[in-house]
Amino acid sequence: MTQITDAPVKTRAQITAKTLRTDPWWRNPAVVATLLTIWVTYATVHVFIGKWYYVPRYHYLTPFYSPCISGECVPGSSSLGHWFGSLPPIIPYAVVSLPFVLGFRLSCYYYRRAYYRAFWRAPAACAVREPHASYTGESRFPLILQNLHRYFFYMVILISILNTYDVVRAFTGPNGSFGFGLGTLIMLANVILLWCYSLSCHSCRHITAGRLNNFSKHPVRYWVWTKISWLNARHMQLAWTTLGTLMLTDLYIWLVAAGVFNDPRIFN
Ligand code: FES
Repeated sequence: MTQITDAPVKTRAQITAKTLRTDPWWRNPAVVATLLTIWVTYATVHVFIGKWYYVPRYHYLTPFYSPCISGECVPGSSSLGHWFGSLPPIIPYAVVSLPFVLGFRLSCYYYRRAYYRAFWRAPAACAVREPHASYTGESRFPLILQNLHRYFFYMVILISILNTYDVVRAFTGPNGSFGFGLGTLIMLANVILLWCYSLSCHSCRHITAGRLNNFSKHPVRYWVWTKISWLNARHMQLAWTTLGTLMLTDLYIWLVAAGVFNDPRIFN
């Protein structure tokens, strides 16, 4: 009978090379880093530019400025009213929603994986040695704040309701009655995808039925859980798609508001 002996002191192979992988493992983190940098740069510029965010004629408000709560918001753009007389230029007009949206995305399980690999190389890829000497996980400040994700989720649901209201307002023609144009449809597609992204969140999946021991006793919650699970399996795709639709919606409204082109109207 074989005796179990103590494990050797060094349980890992002593390989000096950074990696033995020969495939282009660096490509994915490089693409992620490039795309995220472009998106964050674009969003930062338009959030702080302070104009071209609302088209009064059609009630198009970009999600980057919703809700617009500064006293300097253009008339008609403040669906929740003006909370302040004016804000210093360093504070965006949508100061009440952007921290939660940002916190939600930054603490998202998928984005964490993506930007940890892309920017911190922790790890850069499977079977690639990371440059950090120690590993503390997310057990210390500031990364322990990632555990706030579920609370960001609750806030983002409220913000999604507000984004939905913005889309309903965009179904208005210049004479104040029902109407819609290409911008309305872009806003509608964006908000539908934002809902899909938010509801596909791992926290949402857990909330719906994650703690149930017996699905058969909770058929409604189980049914909801199966739908959320279907979305959850597409969470990464939704994370990237919504970054794209957010940028497209904002850019479209920016260009129409700046008078670069007119919104093609489909009805009224
Ligand atoms: S896990 Fe990605 S939004 Fe919650």
